[in-house]
Amino acid sequence: MSTPHLFQPMTVRSKEIRNRIWVSPMCQYSCENQDGMPNDWHLVHLGQFAAGGAGLIMAEATAVNPAGRISSEDTGMWNDEQRDAWARIVRFIHEQGATAAIQLGHAGRKASDYRLFDARCGTTKPISEGGWRTVAPSALAFPGFDVPEELDIAGIDRVVDDFAAAATRSVQAGFDVIEIHAAHGYLIHEFLSPLSNIRTDEYGGSLENRARLLLRIVRAVREAIGDHHGLFVRFSATDWAEGGWDQDQTAVVAAMARDAGADVFDISTGGLIDGVEIPVGEGYQVPLADHIKSASEVATSAVGLITTSEYAEEVLASGRADAVMLGRELLRDPHFALRAARDLNVHVDYWPRQYKAVQWKARQPADN
Ligand SMILES: Cc1cc2nc3c(=O)[nH]c(=O)nc-3n(C[C@H](O)[C@H](O)[C@H](O)COP(=O)(O)O)c2cc1C
Repeated sequence: MSTPHLFQPMTVRSKEIRNRIWVSPMCQYSCENQDGMPNDWHLVHLGQFAAGGAGLIMAEATAVNPAGRISSEDTGMWNDEQRDAWARIVRFIHEQGATAAIQLGHAGRKASDYRLFDARCGTTKPISEGGWRTVAPSALAFPGFDVPEELDIAGIDRVVDDFAAAATRSVQAGFDVIEIHAAHGYLIHEFLSPLSNIRTDEYGGSLENRARLLLRIVRAVREAIGDHHGLFVRFSATDWAEGGWDQDQTAVVAAMARDAGADVFDISTGGLIDGVEIPVGEGYQVPLADHIKSASEVATSAVGLITTSEYAEEVLASGRADAVMLGRELLRDPHFALRAARDLNVHVDYWPRQYKAVQWKARQPADN
C-alpha cells in the first residue's frame, strides 16, 4: 500500500518537511512587559506540536516593528534579543525533527488592539494605555478602530526594510521557512484590497500597483534569506465582499510572487471587512486553495476547519492542495499528526523516544 499523501515528505528549497500536516500560525498574545520576546509559553505551545509529529510548525504573526503588532503582547523580530529568544524555541522544534517556520507581519490599521482574551479586543488601545498611532495605505478605519495615518513613500520603504531585517534575524535564529502575512485585513492585505486602498500613487489603483508593496517585500525577503530557505505567503483569497479582493486577483498576484521568489501560498480568507457573511463549514477555504493552485500552478496549503485525518487526506489525495494547515484542532490535540498516522495505518519514526512505550503498547494485544 502506498504512503498516504499526508505522510509523504515535501521538499521546499533545501528542506525536506517530514509530512504535510502543518501548524497554522496562532497568536498567543503572551509576551510579558510588552517587549515582543517569546518566552516559556511560546516554547511549550510550539514545542508540543513538534513533539506531536507535525511536519512544519509555524510560529505566530510576529511583528517586524513595534507599530506592526496587533497587540502589545505580540511577539516581535525587530531586535537581536528577540532573535536569540526565538533561537531556543527553534532548537527544540529541530530536536523533534520538525521544520521551524515563522510568520512575519505588520497589522496596519488593525494594530494597537487589545489582546484576544481582553473584553475590549476590537478597539484601538489609546496611547495613554500604551497603544500607538496606526498606519495603513489610506486613512480609512476598520470599524471599532481609530482612523490610521496614510503611509507616505518613506514609510513604505521602511516597512519593506523592516520585513527584510526581520527575515534576516529569523534565518539567524534558525528558522527554515519564513511566511509573509498578507492576509486577514492586516497591512499588506490592506494594500491589496481596493476596499481599503484608495491611493492614487503607484501603490493604489491597478492590481499591479496594489500588489507593489507585497512584491517588494517578497523580493527583499528572498534577497535577505538567500536561496536555501522556504518563503511562503499567506493570502486572504477573498474579502467575501462585492468589489473587494478575490480569488482571481489572488491567483494573478500569487504567480507574480512566485516569480519574485515565493515558494508556497497559504490560502486563508477574510479579515478585511467587518460583518460579512462567510460560508463556514468543513474545509470551506479548500476550494480557494484549489483555484489558486490550478490557475497559477503554484504550491498551496489549505486551512480552515480541517479536523479529521480522513478529510485532510482527501484534500491532498484529490490534488486540491499540497499540504494542510491546522489551527484549532491542534489546540485540542497537539498530537494530531501521530494520531493521524495511527488512523491511517502509517508507521512513522518520529514518535518522541520518551513516548515509545505508548506506541509499543498500542501495537500489542490489549492484555499484553
Ligand atoms: C488563537 C488563534 C490565533 C490565530 N493567530 C493567527 C496568526 O497569528 N496568523 C494568522 O495568519 N492566522 C491566525 N489565526 C488563524 C489560524 O491560523 C487559522 O487560519 C484559522 O484558525 C482556521 O483554521 P482552523 O479551522 O484549523 O482553526 C489564528 C487562529 C486562532 C484560533
